[in-house]
Amino acid sequence: ESVSEAPSQDEGLPKIPLFSDLPRDAFIALFERCPLRRFPEGTRIIEQGTRGDAFYVICAGRVRIERQIGTEQRSLAVLGEGAFFGEMALLSGAPRSASVVSASEETQVLEISAPVLAALSRRFPQVAKALRRFCRQRLLSDVVN
Ligand code: CMP
Repeated sequence: ESVSEAPSQDEGLPKIPLFSDLPRDAFIALFERCPLRRFPEGTRIIEQGTRGDAFYVICAGRVRIERQIGTEQRSLAVLGEGAFFGEMALLSGAPRSASVVSASEETQVLEISAPVLAALSRRFPQVAKALRRFCRQRLLSDVVN
C-alpha cells in the first residue's frame, strides 16, 4: 500500500475550531463515526422545547438560531461553517433552548450523539471545557435577548 499516492486525509474536512486541539486521527475518527446530515434551506434541524440527544457541527452552509417567546419570534444568531449548536441541551439536560433552521441552500452538519460526546470529553477534556464556555456565553446572551 503506497501512502504517498493517497490524497491528504484532511482534504475535504472542514476547519472546526472546537476540534483544533484534537489529534488528527481522533478528528478523522469522528468524521468516520458520526453521520453527516444534509438539510435544504428552511429545514428545522432543532425544534425549541424538544429533548436533545445530539449536538451538531456545521461542515458547510449556515443556520439561523430562532427563539420563540409567546407569539414573538427572535433571531438570536446566524452560525456558519465551523460553528456548532445543540450543545446546551446535552450539557444541561434542559429542553432545546431555541430552534435551529437551515439558512443556506444546503447545510451539512456532523451529528455527534451524547455517548460519542461523552467519550470524546473524557479523552479530550479541553473539548468539554470549550463547549461549557460557549454554553455559558450563549446562556448569558440569551438572557439579554
Ligand atoms: P440547544 O439548547 O441544545 O438547542 C438550541 C441551540 O441553539 C442551543 O443548544 C445552542 O447551541 C444554540 N443557541 C442558543 N442560543 C444561542 C445564541 N445566543 N447564540 C448562538 N447559538 C445559540
